Amino acid sequence: MTDAQATDQVTEQATIPVFERIGGMVTIDRLVESFYQRMDTLPDARIIRDMHPADLASTRQVLKRYLTEWTGGPKLYTPEKGHPRLRQRHLGFSIGNAERDAWLTCMRGALEETVKDVAARAELDLALSKLADWMRNQAGNPHDMRAAARP
Ligand code: HEM
Repeated sequence: MTDAQATDQVTEQATIPVFERIGGMVTIDRLVESFYQRMDTLPDARIIRDMHPADLASTRQVLKRYLTEWTGGPKLYTPEKGHPRLRQRHLGFSIGNAERDAWLTCMRGALEETVKDVAARAELDLALSKLADWMRNQAGNPHDMRAAARP
């Protein structure tokens, strides 16, 4: 492959939504199943498992719809739920470093198990890490401290 061809390939990859690069709905489905399976069984995830309903069926379905849309697939979340406003939707749950880390432990394991494309997996890991960090809402978290400091 020439350098020009390699550049074209890289450029093209960057414009194809992650949703397609990871294998679409089938992979989102496996990812979310693996994520909640981990949350259900890992001792480290107990603190966040306890926040969730006993029956995770509808939680699973909502996360699948959200992640499908968020990765650039069909819009399955907003038509039903409206604007995600995820941080606001999580304010009812106390989320600090430990909860964020437990969530990410489950998600990283699930990504490793189900997303074969290494570059796409790294992109998802980075973006989800930022999102999980943004979800922290316990007293003293950096997001609200910055907001409180504004005039
Ligand atoms: C940082 C730690 C996090 C914790 C402890 C947490 C916990 C929860 C809990 C307890 C629920 C309610 C589940 C239910 O009642 O069925 C929920 C809902 C949800 N979470 Fe999280 N979450 C976290 C991060 C995230 C992140 C990073 C995302 C984005 C990928 C996310 C996406 C969602 C979605 C889409 C819902 C459903 C919201 C709706 O009702 O429309 N969560 N989360």
